[in-house]
Amino acid sequence: MTNTTSVPAVDIHGVSRIFAARKGPGVTALDDVSLTVAPGEFVSLIGPSGCGKSTLLRLVADLDVPTSGSIEVFGKPARQARIDQDYGIVFQQAGLLPWRTVAGNIELPLELHGVGKAARRRRAAELITLVGLSDFASHYPDQLSGGMQQRVAIARSLAESPSLLLMDEPFGALDEMTRERMQNELVRICAETQAAVVFVTHSIPEAVFLSNRVVVMSPRPGRIRSIVSVGLGDVSGRGEGLRENEGFFHSLSEVRDLLHGDDAAGASENQAGARGVETR
Ligand SMILES: Nc1ncnc2c1ncn2[C@@H]1O[C@H](COP(=O)(O)OP(=O)(O)O)[C@@H](O)[C@H]1O
Ligand SMILES: [Mg+2]
Repeated sequence: MTNTTSVPAVDIHGVSRIFAARKGPGVTALDDVSLTVAPGEFVSLIGPSGCGKSTLLRLVADLDVPTSGSIEVFGKPARQARIDQDYGIVFQQAGLLPWRTVAGNIELPLELHGVGKAARRRRAAELITLVGLSDFASHYPDQLSGGMQQRVAIARSLAESPSLLLMDEPFGALDEMTRERMQNELVRICAETQAAVVFVTHSIPEAVFLSNRVVVMSPRPGRIRSIVSVGLGDVSGRGEGLRENEGFFHSLSEVRDLLHGDDAAGASENQAGARGVETR
């Protein structure tokens, strides 16, 4: 048997994605991107709007296929990992079924994969506790706040105990206070589940607070400009106090400077792109 500790959670090798246009050369969304994510590691992708963050996440999830290059998830082709349900996925919109309760929504993936009723109930109850919604198991989505709905989406993505979570701006639609609370929660959840995370965000503080490494991408064509290792210790040990920490501010400015590297060149298109990123 292979030693699973040495197999990366995600291995992206020389990946490009070109979207064909009806006329002309098409859009190069990603150009020669390579990135390895270790098991249990938290990696954020940050960059201006349209730089290919969602495209990259979709490729890892096998919701799209690269034009060239390869992607492996736990040593398997992305397609196989999807079939094996090796990852959970969370988008900006919770995407809950309005006619199902909180518990019913969390049970859905288990139901689709033939898990028996009693086991489903048990697992849903566990996850509801994990995401702090114990009093809301039989509520319906429209009775919940945006933050609570996102908790349900996170619980649902964890239903099958994936070793990898793919998150595309999961807190992007939440107000700032809820967002910080959700970040604190996510740190705790990741410590409990030991899952690796690939996390797409527009927010520099969010990326730094959550990540072992922050991948800074450049606009069109999407490439990795730089990777910042956040030297703030184990992600699982991070708490509210970290946001006032000097090392935190140091990493913020490091990421910010890398993101705004374009502006020095004075290209107006790049400046417009950089505005898509929250620097505060
Ligand atoms: N299905 C698609 N067809 C054509 N172009 C696409 C498609 N998906 C994304 N793109 C283009 O690829 C680029 C990257 O998009 P995306 O990955 O959504 O960026 P981000 O998530 O960083 O904002 C953009 O220029 C976008 O218009
Ligand atoms: Mg996106």
